[in-house]
Amino acid sequence: MNRLSELISSIEESRTVAVSSLAKRLKAEGKNVLNFGAGEPDFNTPDFIKEAAIKAIQNNFTTYTPNEGYPDLLKAVIKKFKDENDLDFKPENILVSNGVKHSLYNILMAICNPGDEVIFQSPYWVSYPEMTKLVKGKSVIIDAGVEKEYKILPADLEKAITPKTKVFIFNTPSNPTGVVYSKDEILAFAEVFKNKEIFIISDEIYEKIIFDGEKHFAIGSVDYLKDKTITVNGVSKAYAMTGWRIGYAGGPKEIIKLARNLQSHSTSNAASISQAASYAALTQPTDEINKMVEEFRQRRDFIVAELNKTKGIKCPLPKGAFYVFYDVSSYYGKHVNGFEIKDSTSFCNYLLNEQNVGLVPGIAFGNDNCVRMSYACSQSQIEEGLERIYKALVRFH
Ligand SMILES: Cc1ncc(COP(=O)(O)O)c(C=O)c1O
Repeated sequence: MNRLSELISSIEESRTVAVSSLAKRLKAEGKNVLNFGAGEPDFNTPDFIKEAAIKAIQNNFTTYTPNEGYPDLLKAVIKKFKDENDLDFKPENILVSNGVKHSLYNILMAICNPGDEVIFQSPYWVSYPEMTKLVKGKSVIIDAGVEKEYKILPADLEKAITPKTKVFIFNTPSNPTGVVYSKDEILAFAEVFKNKEIFIISDEIYEKIIFDGEKHFAIGSVDYLKDKTITVNGVSKAYAMTGWRIGYAGGPKEIIKLARNLQSHSTSNAASISQAASYAALTQPTDEINKMVEEFRQRRDFIVAELNKTKGIKCPLPKGAFYVFYDVSSYYGKHVNGFEIKDSTSFCNYLLNEQNVGLVPGIAFGNDNCVRMSYACSQSQIEEGLERIYKALVRFH
């Protein structure tokens, strides 16, 4: 008999977290490390949100709330979904959890049985395959590399669907690629699911971090998908609130009921103070998001232009989120001082060892030709980082 759980033993450590931890360790050892692995905005949580949290503490809003979230927050989430995404929900359709990660896990647990197939595309967000393992499902991954600008097509989805397909996880804007699917592209995906008993989980956490006049469109607003789609979103990225841990899901009430039940026995309600802060975030007007997005856009333009000047790098222009995901495979098989770049992991190790630059290997996202670089950091860090990357790579030219 195994002493430890075989299921949990099969789960990989999050590689994005692993890179950050390694970069922090090297920094603590005195190395001048520039870490581009971060998956969180480098802005502070806006003051009005912090003040709402302080007030919540002072007003003793510090006890358990209803498991699914306190009623005013549920109302605010319903209004957000209606006003911004054209989604119609009642309180029984909503669950507030400890971050979008938790929302996703609760929902997958609520719908999946062992052997169910879970479709998503690669490059994917690191947790989709691991969560699929946790629910004893089977990942069915549709590859879309740099040559396809990381986009899948409706025909790819058709091909991936089998009688065992339970759910399609859809993420736009995407982590790690920054791809944004247009309304027309999403409507074409919707057609694929018409009259099929397949759920869609739509992960819309980067909804507000979107550039060049692109518009976010929620697949759950398509009429015939309303009773099949669970939309998840949260405050982490849009309001620079990653540490507050609030995410929420809106979907069919029988699914939400099971997810609530699971949450009630595992974590109970999300932190009351964070809920009060999130209520402020969702209900008070603010231009902080626009400022942050504009700053991200400027950094993106700079970083993409510079990377594409570097020989051997192919970097498509991301339309959302705060990452660039670029192809470095032309360096594979090259040697310097006895070190061979074989894959995305050795590429990242080389940069970390040679120039103290932390990137995330694309293999973490299912694409070993690429690496992910976050630009949620200062312009000066970006400039220095790009210079160091260039210095490390020029030795191969
Ligand atoms: C695509 C995607 N979904 C979900 C999450 C999780 O967000 P949260 O911090 O709300 O758990 C992340 C965080 O990096 C993400 O990139």
